[in-house]
Formats: sequence, structure tokens, C-alpha cells
Amino acid sequence: MTVHFIGAGPGAPDLITLRGRDLIAASPVCLYAGSLVPAALLEYCPPGARIINTAPLSLDAIMAEIIAAHAAGHDVARLHSGDLSVWSAMGEQLRRLRALDIPYDITPGVPSFAAAAAALGTELTLPGVAQSVVLTRVSGRATSMPPGETLAAFAATGATLAIHLSIHVLDHVLAELAPHYGADCPVAVVWRASWPDQRIVRATLATLETALATEMERTALILVGRTIGATAFEESRLYAGDYDRRFRPLGTTPRFPEVK
Ligand SMILES: C[S@@+](CC[C@H](N)C(=O)[O-])C[C@H]1O[C@@H](n2cnc3c(N)ncnc32)[C@H](O)[C@@H]1O
Repeated sequence: MTVHFIGAGPGAPDLITLRGRDLIAASPVCLYAGSLVPAALLEYCPPGARIINTAPLSLDAIMAEIIAAHAAGHDVARLHSGDLSVWSAMGEQLRRLRALDIPYDITPGVPSFAAAAAALGTELTLPGVAQSVVLTRVSGRATSMPPGETLAAFAATGATLAIHLSIHVLDHVLAELAPHYGADCPVAVVWRASWPDQRIVRATLATLETALATEMERTALILVGRTIGATAFEESRLYAGDYDRRFRPLGTTPRFPEVK
């Protein structure tokens, strides 16, 4: 018996991995985080599977389901939205499973920031503009930010920011960032990236609030930085015609002569 943690992707049901889909199909129990995991993925569950939405459950109640499945020898498909490495609450479940000696494995998923970047048609790291992406959030009712992890501190680096779980305090986000990036810095808000009702608003830090006519549902990412929609950036050296590299040796004395 194994608990399979599976990244369910950002919303479109065909953005789950083949491995994740096959594990769902092979597991007699499916626990899914119903607030963001698309219901269409549950169609992969085998006939007669026990399918439970964990959104209204406590951690103790979720563990009770897993412990019961373990006792019955049933594999569990545990679905969380996007990827499991960020804001999935997987860590606390893994800690309890380790303490109980219940086996688990982890199948990554497409994170929402990647789906949002795809929706924008944007690379978040561009030569000479930004080479780092910070996945962050602001404090919420349930989670406080550690003292050093402020928007201002991240903004001081000039990195591209992908700000999760923060659309409800958009005005605060814009005010914190403008002094660092400049009021003309591009910003995009992507709601429900990859869902059928996906919506995008592009603006600058100065104009975003007026560009948003109505308050939107909370599943949204705020992407900020000079990479958003940039057209003036250097080309990558990797593909430059005169760049001698392992997979394309150049000249009479290439750096990596042994590889063709
Ligand atoms: C609890 S976190 C889950 C993050 C998820 N594990 C991931 O890999 O993206 C939920 C937040 O992720 C962002 N999010 C998740 N799915 C999204 C989507 N399809 N479009 C835009 N933002 C999304 C929103 O900021 C939302 O408030």
C-alpha cells in the first residue's frame, strides 16, 4: 500500500502527468483538494473507488482516511492542485506518514505560475532583464510570513515575482512594489490559468487597479517584473551562432572536441 501524492496541475484536466493519471486509475481511494483540483480528473478513478473531497476535512480526518486505506491495503491517490512543492500542505502529511511508517511517493505537477506564464506567452527569465523568479505570497489569515520574507526585500533584487494567494490585498502589493520596480513596471494578473474561464489583465504597477473593473474570484496570480511582456532583451548566448558548446563544437580547437 502506498499513498501517491500527485500534482493535479493548474486546472485544465489534460495538464496532469501521464504518471499521475495512471496512479489515479490504479488507486482504490482518491483524496482530492476540492477547492482547486478539477473534478474531471476524478473520472480516471477506477469503478467503485472511494472518492473524498478533503476541502472540508481537518488533517486528523484526512489521516483517518489514509490510515483506514492502509489497514485495508488500498493505495491512495492524494491530489493537490498545481505542484506539491509549494503551498500544498503536503509537508505535514508526509511527517505524519513517516511517523506511522506508511509508504508514500510523490508525482510532480504543473505549477500555477508556469500555467500563468504560458497564458501570458512570457518567459519569466530573460537575458539582461531578470534571471530569477521568486514564488511568494503575503501573510494571510491562516499563515504569517517569516519576518525576512517581505515583498520589499524580494523586489529589491529586481527578480520576476509570482505572487500567490494575495489578490485580496492587491492595493498593498502594488504599493509595496512600486518604489522598487518603478510605477511603469509591467504587471499581469492571471485568474484561473488554464481553466475555461481564464482571465488576464495586463497593466503597470500604476494602472493595474483602474484596469481591474470588478473584483474577481481569488484563484489568481500576480506576476510583476520587467520580463512581463518585454521585447527589448538580449538573445541567449546558448544558441548564438558563434558560441562553442558541448553539443555544437566550433572552430579548430573546440572546448568539447570529444562530443559530436
Ligand atoms: C494553495 S495555493 C496552491 C499552489 C499550487 N500548489 C501550485 O503549484 O501553483 C493556491 C494559490 O495558487 C494560485 N493558483 C492556483 N491555481 C491557479 C490558477 N489556475 N491560476 C492562477 N493562480 C492559481 C493562486 O494564487 C491561489 O491563491
